[in-house]
Amino acid sequence: MPNAGDLSGRFIVVGVSGGIAAYKAVEVCRLLVDAGAHVAPIMTPDAERFIGKTTLSALCSEPVHTSLWDDASPIPHTRLGQRADLIVVAPATARVIAAYAAGMSDDLLTATLIATVAPVVVCPAMHTEMWEHPAVRHNVATLRSRGVHIVEPEDGRLAGGDMGRGRLAAPETILAEARRVLAPTQSKLAARHVVVSAGGTREPIDAVRVITNRSSGKQGHAIANEAARRGAKVTLVTTADFLPVPGVSVVRVETAAEMKSAIDTAAASADVVIMTAAVADFRPVPIAEGKWKKHDGVPSVVLEPTPDILAGLGAAKRPGQVLVGFAAETSNLVDNAKSKLAHKNLDIVVANDVSQPKVGFGHDTNAVTIVTKLGTSAIPLADKRTVAAHVLDSVEASLHPTQEHP
Ligand code: PMT
Repeated sequence: MPNAGDLSGRFIVVGVSGGIAAYKAVEVCRLLVDAGAHVAPIMTPDAERFIGKTTLSALCSEPVHTSLWDDASPIPHTRLGQRADLIVVAPATARVIAAYAAGMSDDLLTATLIATVAPVVVCPAMHTEMWEHPAVRHNVATLRSRGVHIVEPEDGRLAGGDMGRGRLAAPETILAEARRVLAPTQSKLAARHVVVSAGGTREPIDAVRVITNRSSGKQGHAIANEAARRGAKVTLVTTADFLPVPGVSVVRVETAAEMKSAIDTAAASADVVIMTAAVADFRPVPIAEGKWKKHDGVPSVVLEPTPDILAGLGAAKRPGQVLVGFAAETSNLVDNAKSKLAHKNLDIVVANDVSQPKVGFGHDTNAVTIVTKLGTSAIPLADKRTVAAHVLDSVEASLHPTQEHP
């Protein structure tokens, strides 16, 4: 009898690669089948060193696929990739992550990943040293920037009895992510125009030097990607170079003046503007022609204030438009956020205490307090994509029902 769970009718490919956490993939498959999904498992040759094919074949909705060559179908990767509503890779080893990021298709799993347009959830598991290696960080960031959903590994016991970050996320967490990704979009943001700013502006001192800040653009890009996932038409004004996902149109800028011009243009038709960027408050004036030479002595840099883009948007706010500011603080988080909310005529302020570990500038994680006229809500340390989802939930709650599109 077919299952009647909330994933009923969904075709989910579960890719299992060769790590000790492969045994947990059995539970992931069982949970997905219990939720009603049709689960097609793929094992890499290395995965077969950790668990038996029979186990997965018995639990899943069809026998396990292991090779590009021994399947009944001559092109199993395109069949699986095209049929999939979702692909979950659990566990994902450093090798599979690297191959996927590089677009290499050297086994059935990586070939299927390249042959699909379905959403992909990657659940890394490896030793802490590997997880923290710059090459792995870079590959994970590349996948994220392409819209791949990453379920972060947890802290805990690893192979060989070591402890640390790198343990595969709990099967229930992976199931929850699969449900979230496949949830039908009933977002109030669907078909709305959402403008997001991201990154730190760079203000020239002379022909080669700039004043800038530590913003990477990760939080702003995560918000833009999540808004696009919810069906919004997104304009992202950014100083960062991450690849855009479908639905996000990027305007690349450098200075506060360029950002203001791009934001003001886009805001004219925007339903929502979210200022995540760290915009310079001051810029050098005048900008020296050419490059200052060392032998001319130590120069004096004179600064002038930049225009406050957000305050300008608040002054010109249209009825129904939702304006979101960020606040990077090191003390009095909520009081300062409330003061920005009132003074700049904002609907929401997202405050982060950037003196805390793993919070704010440059990190993959953030912890924020969302302040609205109705109250405050604290979002504990989480992946920036999760924080983005909370920020957009709050935006949706602020969109006036009478302003909704049909
Ligand atoms: O980019 P990441 O590495 O992911 O880091 C994310 C972040 C720390 C940059 C982000 O979470 C954040 O806090 N962004 C706001 C940083 C900031 O500049 O805060 P602020 O308190 O100085 O500015 C308050 C608000 O006014 C911000 O929304 C800012 O975009 C806006 N502003 C500031 C100055 C200016 N001239 N014009 C503005 O619009």
